[in-house]
Amino acid sequence: MALIELRGVSKTYRLGPIRVDALRGVDLSIERGEMAAIMGPSGSGKSTLMNLLGCLDAPTEGDYRLDGEDVGAASDDRLAELRNGAIGFVFQSYNLLPRLTAAANVALPLLYGGGGRGAKERALAALDAVGLRERANHHPPELSGGEQQRVGIARALVKQSTTLLLADEPTGNLDSRSSVEIIAALQRLNVERGMTVIIVTHEPDVAAFTKRALTIRDGQLVGDEPVAQRTALS
Ligand SMILES: Nc1ncnc2c1ncn2[C@@H]1O[C@H](COP(=O)(O)OP(=O)(O)OP(=O)(O)O)[C@@H](O)[C@H]1O
Ligand SMILES: [Mg+2]
Repeated sequence: MALIELRGVSKTYRLGPIRVDALRGVDLSIERGEMAAIMGPSGSGKSTLMNLLGCLDAPTEGDYRLDGEDVGAASDDRLAELRNGAIGFVFQSYNLLPRLTAAANVALPLLYGGGGRGAKERALAALDAVGLRERANHHPPELSGGEQQRVGIARALVKQSTTLLLADEPTGNLDSRSSVEIIAALQRLNVERGMTVIIVTHEPDVAAFTKRALTIRDGQLVGDEPVAQRTALS
């Protein structure tokens, strides 16, 4: 069984009389341990798809199974459990709290989960995994964009239960050198920890570091190609 199974998934947003068919009949399987890119023009439905994959939202039609579980039938509480369990999110704009240190930002998901014990050590280990342990006591405004995004990745993987990393344009605010640092951090987690990594990107240079390129256009999956993966790991 694949980790992610979408069958005929559609998502329609309704704003009064206006109806937007953001996803239309998407079939998609993603295995554990894959590293895939989602590409496509602005407004094609990439973030909508990521929100569904991350259990932030439910499909209007069709079937989404995550690790065999029918996400469409899950209660709001169960959706929250799924999000707090296996899934880690990385955002384009980092979403760090500027007045907290890097380590405290990374530890936040552990505090929400009620597991304060050992949070500091876990946060430091997660920062270590992205090569930023020596910046643990810095605040986000003292870090470069690429470093802030690596803190964002550390926060996404600090829960021991994280096995699926969803990154929506994680390099969208970064120059090409910092982008390679981010993609290297994500690739390392995929290769060394077997995490399933899905990245939305506009940049073919970023997609080249994944193993599979999915293309969305007008809410439909129109491309699914293997990639001759470049390595960012030394
Ligand atoms: N909450 C919402 N309510 C209504 N319409 C929405 C909502 N979110 C997205 N849409 C619409 O759904 C379509 C797909 O949006 P989505 O954000 O998934 O695109 P995207 O591929 O991520 O674009 P971009 O590359 O600009 O981030 C767009 O037409 C958008 O206007
Ligand atoms: Mg988007």
